[in-house]
Amino acid sequence: MAGTSKMTIAELLKRKRQAGKITMLTAYDYPIAKFVDAAGVDVILVGDSLGMVVLGYESTTPVTMEEMLHHAKAARRGVSRALLVGDMPFLSFRSSTADAVKNAGRFVQEAGCDAVKVEWKHGIEDVTKAIVDAGIPVMGHVGLTPQTAAAEGGFGMRGKDAESAARIIGQAIALQEVGCFAMVLECIPDVVAQEITQRLTIPTIGIGSGPWCDGQVLVTYDLLGLYDRFTPSFVKQYATLGTTIRDAVTAYVRDVKAGTFPGTEHTKTLAPDELARLKQELG
Ligand code: KIV
Repeated sequence: MAGTSKMTIAELLKRKRQAGKITMLTAYDYPIAKFVDAAGVDVILVGDSLGMVVLGYESTTPVTMEEMLHHAKAARRGVSRALLVGDMPFLSFRSSTADAVKNAGRFVQEAGCDAVKVEWKHGIEDVTKAIVDAGIPVMGHVGLTPQTAAAEGGFGMRGKDAESAARIIGQAIALQEVGCFAMVLECIPDVVAQEITQRLTIPTIGIGSGPWCDGQVLVTYDLLGLYDRFTPSFVKQYATLGTTIRDAVTAYVRDVKAGTFPGTEHTKTLAPDELARLKQELG
C-alpha cells in the first residue's frame, strides 16, 4: 500500500518527473470510496460514469449536477488520503463560462472535492482557464469523450489516423497551457498516448490508451465485475462481485424459504425469568 500522507497536485507532478506511476479509480459512494482510498489509490474520480454504472442510464449525458454532488458528498466521507476529483457533467460547463465556474465551485464548496475534470469540447480552453483562475484545479480529458461520443460517431478508438492524432495532441497541449494539472487520455492508440505523455509536463492518466501514460484509470465497477451491460476490452476484471452478490442473495432467499435463517445465533431469546415476567405482564 502507498503512503498515508494526503495526495496533492504537487506530489502528482513530482511523480511525473520521477517516472513513478499514478493510480486513479472511480467511486460514487462512501463504502467503495473508503475501500479504494484504503488500498492506496492516488486519485479518486467521482466520474459521470455514475450515470451508467450506478444510475442505470444508457449514457452519461443525462447526469445532472445535483446527482453528481449527491454522490461526490458521499464519496468525500470515505476518502482521507486520495485526491478527490469531481467530474463536470454534460451540461454543467457548456452553456456559459459563468455557469461552468459556478458549477466547478459547487464541487469544491458543497462536496469537498479537491479538483474537477472537464471533457474536451471546442472552445473549452477559455472555460477551463476561467475555472483555474477562480482557484479550482482542473484535470482535462481528451481522446474518446463519452459525453459527446454518440454525436461524434460512437465509442470507438480515437486518433487512429495522423490528422485526428495531431488534433488530440493539440487539444492536450492547449489544456495544459490554460492550466490543467493532469490529463485523462481515453481510448487512443498507445503510440499517440506515448507522444502526448512525452510532450506534456503534466501527468497523463490513460484508460484504454496503453502502458506509456504516467498513470492509469478504470471505472471501479468494471474492475470489480459489478457492471454487466458490457465490459470494454481494455478492462482487466480483478473480481466478479456481481456473481458474489447474486450467489449470496440466492443463498439468503433459500435460507429464509427453508426456515434456516434466522438461526439461534441470530435470534435474541429471553432468559427464563425475563420470559416468565413478560408472560405475566402480557396476561
Ligand atoms: O466518468 C468517468 O468515469 C471517467 C473516467 C472513465 C475517466 O471519465
